[in-house]
Amino acid sequence: MADAVPIRLLRPGAVALQALPPLALYVHLPWCLKKCPYCDFNSHELQGELAETAYLDALIADLESSLPLVWGRRIVSVFIGGGTPSLFEPEAIDRLLAAVRARLPLEPGCEVTLEANPGTFERERFRAFREAGVTRLSIGVQSFDDAALHALGRVHDAAQARAAVAEAAEAFETWNLDLMYALPGQTPAQLAAELEVALSFRPPHLSIYHLTIEPNTLFAVQPPELPDDDLASEMLDLIAERTAATGLARYEVSAFAREGHRCLHNLNYWSFGDYLGIGAGAHGKLSFPERVLRQVRWREPATYMARALEGRAVSNQHEPARAELPLEFMMNALRLKDGFPLRLFAERTGLPVSAALVPLQRARERGLVDWRDEGTADEWVQPTPRGFDFLSDLTALFVPARG
Ligand SMILES: C[S@@+](CC[C@H](N)C(=O)[O-])C[C@H]1O[C@@H](n2cnc3c(N)ncnc32)[C@H](O)[C@@H]1O
Ligand code: SF4
Repeated sequence: MADAVPIRLLRPGAVALQALPPLALYVHLPWCLKKCPYCDFNSHELQGELAETAYLDALIADLESSLPLVWGRRIVSVFIGGGTPSLFEPEAIDRLLAAVRARLPLEPGCEVTLEANPGTFERERFRAFREAGVTRLSIGVQSFDDAALHALGRVHDAAQARAAVAEAAEAFETWNLDLMYALPGQTPAQLAAELEVALSFRPPHLSIYHLTIEPNTLFAVQPPELPDDDLASEMLDLIAERTAATGLARYEVSAFAREGHRCLHNLNYWSFGDYLGIGAGAHGKLSFPERVLRQVRWREPATYMARALEGRAVSNQHEPARAELPLEFMMNALRLKDGFPLRLFAERTGLPVSAALVPLQRARERGLVDWRDEGTADEWVQPTPRGFDFLSDLTALFVPARG
C-alpha cells in the first residue's frame, strides 16, 4: 500500500493554499491508426498489435505509485484521451475503470469521458464503453465533408462520421462532437454546410477548433493553403450565430454546450483545478498546502511502459515559482466566457489577489476585461468581447517581469 504524502512536499513552500482544489484524473492512451498531418499530440501510429494488456499494467502501476500524492482526495471527473482511446476494447476500458475505482474514490455521478474516432467505430462498441462506466463520449469528427477529411489525412469518411455520431446520440445522454474550421481551402458556405450537418444531430456539446499549424507536424513542413485571418474571423462569427440559434451557448474559446452539458473535466482545467495525469506523456498538476507541483510522464510509449512498471513513470516535475502562477492561472481562467470570481485566484494559486492587480488594472484600462463588485466578496473578472477575441494579448499582460 502507498505511503503518506512524501515529506518534502509538506515542507514550507512558495504559496499558502487554504484548501486543495478539486482533483480530476486524466488517462492518456497514445496510439492511433494513422498519424494526422496537423496533429502534435503525443499520438503514435500503431505498428502491429495494440499492447493493450501491457499498457494497462503500466497505467495501473503508474496510478499505484501516484497514490501518495493524492491521498484522501476524491476524483471529480475522469478523461480518457489520446491518441485514439476507442482503439482499446471495451473490456480493457472496463479493467481500467475498475482499477481506478479500486484505488481512488470517485465522486457520485463522476463524469467519465472517452475520446472516440469514427474510424474505430462499430455499432455495439459505443454501448459497451457505456457499460464499462464511460458516461460521455467525445467524437473526433473534424469534418463531414469527404474532400476535407481527405485533405486532413483522416482515416474515416463522412459516412462513418455520421454513423458514429448517430450511434453516440443513441447510446449516450451526453456527448461531444469535435470539429475543426478554417480548413485547407474552406469557404464560409462550406463551413455553413458542415455546421448544418453537425447541428442536425443536436449535440449536447460541440468543440470547434481553429485549425492551427503546429511545429513538428507534417503540415508545418508542407503547409496547405489556409483561409486568412479575416476569413477565419468571419467563420467564427458564423459559428457563434448558428450554434446560438440551436441553443448551444459558447462558454469557452472553443466550447459550446446546452444547459447542463458543459464538460466538467475541462471546466476543472480552466478553473485551475488539480489533475493527476497518467499514461505516456501525460501532464499533471497537483497542489499541496504550500506548493503546486507539475509533472510530465515519459512520452515514448515503450519507455513509459518500462519505467511505469519500475515506479518511475514521471520524466520531469517542477514547482512553478510564485511569479509564474498568475500567468498560469489567467491562461486558463480567462478562456471562460463568463469569467471567474477573483477570490478563485487566491484559492487556486495560494497567492494574495494583490499578486495579479497590476496586470488586471492594465487589462481593464485597455478594455480587455470587465471588473465587477470591486472590493467585495463577489468581485468578478470577465474578458470583454475584445479581450476574448485577443486572448493572447490579454494573457501576455500576466507574463512575469524578468529579473
Ligand atoms: C487530442 S485530439 C484527439 C481526438 C481524436 N484522436 C481524433 O482526432 O479523432 C482532440 C481534438 O483536438 C483537435 N485538434 C487536434 N490537432 C489540432 C490542430 N492542429 N488544430 C486545431 N485543432 C486540433 C481535433 O479537433 C481533435 O478532435
Ligand atoms: S486521430 Fe487524433 S490524436 Fe490521432 S493523430 Fe489524428 S488528431 Fe492526433
